[in-house]
Amino acid sequence: MTILHIDSSITGDNSASRAISRSIVDRLLAADPAAQVIERDLVDQPLSHLTLEALGDSTVADEFLDAQTVVIGAPMYNFTLATQLKAWLDRILIAGKTFRYTADGPEGLAGGRRVIVAIARGGFYNEGSPASALEHLESYLRGVFNFIGIEPEFVAADGLNISPEQRERSVRAALGETVRLAA
Ligand SMILES: Cc1cc2nc3c(=O)[nH]c(=O)nc-3n(C[C@H](O)[C@H](O)[C@H](O)COP(=O)(O)O)c2cc1C
Repeated sequence: MTILHIDSSITGDNSASRAISRSIVDRLLAADPAAQVIERDLVDQPLSHLTLEALGDSTVADEFLDAQTVVIGAPMYNFTLATQLKAWLDRILIAGKTFRYTADGPEGLAGGRRVIVAIARGGFYNEGSPASALEHLESYLRGVFNFIGIEPEFVAADGLNISPEQRERSVRAALGETVRLAA
C-alpha cells in the first residue's frame, strides 16, 4: 500500500493538524508495516498558484492517483482551507483524469482510494451553532472529494483557540479517534 501524507499547517511544531495527521499515518503503518509513505509538505515545499502552464503538468495528480490512502492535515484559516492546500487541489482536479463531464452530469474518476482528513479549527462550527454558516473547510473538502468520486473521512479537533484546556481536550479526543480509523 502507498500512503500519501500531506500537511498544510503553517504553525510547525505547534500544529494540531500535523500532530493528528502524523498519528493517523503512524496507526496505518502499525497496521501495515510494509506500506510506503510519501510525504508532501505543502508549507516546506509550496506549489505555485495555478497557471495554464501548471495545468499541463500532471506530476501532482499522478502522485495522488498512485496512492491507495491519502492522509491530509487541514487547518482552518479564515474560515476555509490553507492556500497551500488549495494549490494542491488545483493540481488534482483535472477534467479527464480525476473527473469527467458526461451527458448525465459530472462523474468522479478517482474512487477506490481512501482519503482521511485531519481538521483543526479554532472555534466550533457544529450545525446550529452561530458560526456554522462560516464553515468552508470540511464542507468544501467533502464536496471536492465527492466530486472526484471519493467519500472522505474526517477527524476534527475543534475549539482549539477557546482555551488551553479545550485545546488539550479536543486534540486528545482527535488523537484517540485515529485508533478507530486505522482499525
Ligand atoms: C492565520 C490564522 C487564521 C485562522 N483563522 C481561523 C478561522 O477563521 N476560524 C477558526 O475557527 N480558527 C481560525 N484559526 C485558528 C486555527 O484554525 C487553529 O489555530 C488550528 O489549530 C490551526 O491548525 P494547526 O494547529 O494545524 O495550524 C486561525 C489561525 C491562524 C494562524
